[in-house]
Amino acid sequence: MIPPLLPGQPHFALRNGELFAENVPLSALAREHGTPLFVYSKRSMLEALAAYQRGFAGRNARICYAMKANSSLGVLQVFAQAGCGFDIVSGGELERALAAGALAGDIIFSGVGKTRREMQRALQVGIGCFNVESEAELEVLSEVAVALGQTAPVSIRVNPDVDPKTHPYISTGLKGSKFGIPHERALQAYRRAVALPGLRVAGIDCHIGSQITTEEPYLDAMDRVLDLVEVVEAAGIALPHIDFGGGLGINYNGEEPPGADALWVDLFAKIDARGFGDRLFMIEPGRSLVGNAGVCVTEVLYLKLEDQKNFCVIDAAMNDLPRPAMYQAYHAIVPVQHCSDPASRYDVVGPVCESGDWIGHDRMLAVRPGDLLAVMSAGAYCMSMASNYNTRGRAAEILVDGSSFHLIRERETAADQMRSERLVP
Ligand code: LLP
Repeated sequence: MIPPLLPGQPHFALRNGELFAENVPLSALAREHGTPLFVYSKRSMLEALAAYQRGFAGRNARICYAMKANSSLGVLQVFAQAGCGFDIVSGGELERALAAGALAGDIIFSGVGKTRREMQRALQVGIGCFNVESEAELEVLSEVAVALGQTAPVSIRVNPDVDPKTHPYISTGLKGSKFGIPHERALQAYRRAVALPGLRVAGIDCHIGSQITTEEPYLDAMDRVLDLVEVVEAAGIALPHIDFGGGLGINYNGEEPPGADALWVDLFAKIDARGFGDRLFMIEPGRSLVGNAGVCVTEVLYLKLEDQKNFCVIDAAMNDLPRPAMYQAYHAIVPVQHCSDPASRYDVVGPVCESGDWIGHDRMLAVRPGDLLAVMSAGAYCMSMASNYNTRGRAAEILVDGSSFHLIRERETAADQMRSERLVP
């Protein structure tokens, strides 16, 4: 089946056979800034955010963008200006969020392996909450906070043991995963947290996985979390906030995830029925805010026509777009300008010296060398996971806003890559 032309990306549209980001033709951007080139639509980001805001209308809620999805400063700035908080997972992400204008108090710190140095810095700047993932981390965080004369706000990430029915590498809420504290040990962990001198319990949190395209795992997880809130509060430990993680999927290839607004209407029906409607609700969406707000524009270098297979060799590779190689992920690939040649079937591959360096298998494309292609749905977990493998410089990035656009990252040079290295004297 030939996939829908532009899945889920309303602000990337064909006009007279030419692909535009909002009101800007991608070919003009590629001419000016070269390829591979990531292009983001600001309007797409704000519309994706607005769906969550509608779902939370009238509620006490905070949306903390999970910046691991795309941590480029210009992207963070859009969300900071729109009033978002940030979910971070490293000291590096903390510095980026602050540099983009985030308020420290709206930052929450997730992750199984926070170092003492990261905890210190986060306490010094006054972040909003630490999402703690083990009893051992509770002890260390308390020690670090006491040494600084502070108390650290904590929420415990519980593992609700529900199956999000997504790729195993991005399922996190099942028993046996490295994430969170098992449901049955949560009360014990909270008892320890209140006994430690450097901690103040602020809430509870969970995250069950990523690219979730049905409501059911969310509804199940919410039930499990609310069960725990009842148990923990019955033991006299108040949980002012409930952080429900991220994970809502996007349309890469015809998936039909629920809208964030519809999902939260259904979740609040359950929450209200169980009497928890007046809590502070926090969420950590990443992919669903940026995934379909970005594309990667790439040039066709060569067409290799062989007996067994045709290859379309492009100038973007697994170092720019790691998701196909890592998760066998699908990204639609479409021509940026119409070509009247008949379409042929190609494996679309990059220049990196690995057979795993493919971007799409069996794609029908009408292309010639020198043509531009757009790899769609590339706003999330592409640039933020890009590497320098094969000493390839990371791509440039453009943020489009209506008819104007801004270069938000220059193309990385070989000199940039070697800057921190030293020859042996
Ligand atoms: N909160 C926590 C604690 C997380 O671990 C994650 C994602 C999120 C929030 C955001 O989830 P999202 O809304 O983006 O689904 N590289 C993979 C995805 C890894 C997700 C890791 N955790 C991919 O490209 O599919």
